[in-house]
Amino acid sequence: MSQTVPVIAIDGPSASGKGTVAARVAAHLGWHYLDSGALYRLTALAAQNRSIDLADEPEVSAVAAHLDAAFLEGVVLLDGEDVTDIIRTETAGEGASRVAVLPGVRAALLQRQRDFARAPGLVTDGRDMGSVVFPAATLKIFLTASAEERAQRRYKQLIAKGESVTISQILLDVQQRDARDSARSVAPLRQLPDARLLDTTTLPISDAVQTVLDWLHEVMPG
Ligand code: DC
Repeated sequence: MSQTVPVIAIDGPSASGKGTVAARVAAHLGWHYLDSGALYRLTALAAQNRSIDLADEPEVSAVAAHLDAAFLEGVVLLDGEDVTDIIRTETAGEGASRVAVLPGVRAALLQRQRDFARAPGLVTDGRDMGSVVFPAATLKIFLTASAEERAQRRYKQLIAKGESVTISQILLDVQQRDARDSARSVAPLRQLPDARLLDTTTLPISDAVQTVLDWLHEVMPG
């Protein structure tokens, strides 16, 4: 697949901070940003809104293919409704993880994700950005942190939003989602041989952002 505009593909497990890093890198460069996980979250939500069983591959794939979604300056719309906060809940993440195992859903979302690659460039995050969606990406990064650290970060976010959760419950969720995302047969979560490892367990976000910018400079001088 030829890549006409530069793409930074950041893959990694849930709650690793990859979304924050990717969005900040995109803002710094003035490039487009695609949060691919949001498409899986939206698909699950749209299917649930239509009372479709999340294991029903043909039905859920049809929902994915006809997703009426829009990303407008930090606001996410589904069927014209603001779902920015709803798609960030643990329930939506759980639903996303379930529909993400369906090959028909992944196929339905493929071209839609590729359409985000527009000049001057794209920064994207997910699980298979470097392996499946943008295999010719300019820079591929596997961004991770320990499960305990990711659970801590997720816990703080959820508590700040007023959700009632315990740290042990969140750690279990993180571990279960990791297992499901890594064990599935289509586009499993894994570090590619050509992806650079960015471990943020003890790294502040600003340093992670700077590391990505430095690496981009190495592969795309000037
Ligand atoms: O990055 P996230 O937590 O918003 O992703 C939600 C779910 O979607 C996660 O369980 C894995 C799945 N996903 C995927 O399979 N492929 C992607 N490119 C992005 C997310």
